[in-house]
Amino acid sequence: MTPSVPTPLAARTPPLAEPSAWHEISLTVNGRPVTAQVESRLLLSDFLRDRLGLTGTHVGCEHGVCGACTVLVDDEPVRTCLILAVQCRGTEIRTVEGLAPGDAPLTSVQQAFHECHGMQCGFCTPGFVLTTTALTEQSDRPDGEQVADALSGHLCRCTGYRNIRRAVCQALGERFGE
Ligand code: FES
Ligand code: FES
Repeated sequence: MTPSVPTPLAARTPPLAEPSAWHEISLTVNGRPVTAQVESRLLLSDFLRDRLGLTGTHVGCEHGVCGACTVLVDDEPVRTCLILAVQCRGTEIRTVEGLAPGDAPLTSVQQAFHECHGMQCGFCTPGFVLTTTALTEQSDRPDGEQVADALSGHLCRCTGYRNIRRAVCQALGERFGE
C-alpha cells in the first residue's frame, strides 16, 4: 500500500513590513510539512501558537524556567520560549496536539497522566507529557536521577507533583515492562 502523504499545515503570514528581516523556513510539525516566512526574532513558541494555531504549547514564564512551553524538536525536549523559529529550519517538531490527533487513542503517557490524576488546571501538563514522552522513547530505562533531572525543569503550581511522579512512573513502567 502506498503511504499517504501528510497534508501541509498552513501557516499564517502577517504583512511583511521589512522583507529583508524575514526568512523562509521549512520544517515538519506533527508529521505535516510546513513552509513559512518568519522574522529573525520570532520565537518558536509564538510561531507554533500564533502562526500555526497550536495553542497546546503553553507559555508561562517566557524565560526558560517553568517548562510549560516544552515541545520535542528532533525527539529532544526543547523550551520554545528560548529558541527562535528560524533555528528550527529542517527539524521535526512534535507538540501535544500531535500525540493523539483527532480520534486517536491517548498515548500511554497521556493515559498515565489521566489515570493518575497528574494534572489539575493543566497549564503545565503539555510540557510534562512531552518530556515524559521523550523519556519513554529512550532505548534504555532512565534511572531515578535522570528522571528527576528531566522533571526538574518543569514547574507545577497545582498538584504538589505527587501524582505527576506517579504518572511518570506508570508510563516508564509500561514502556520498560516493569
Ligand atoms: S514559558 Fe518557556 S520555560 Fe516557561
Ligand atoms: S496542573 Fe496547574 S500548573 Fe500544573
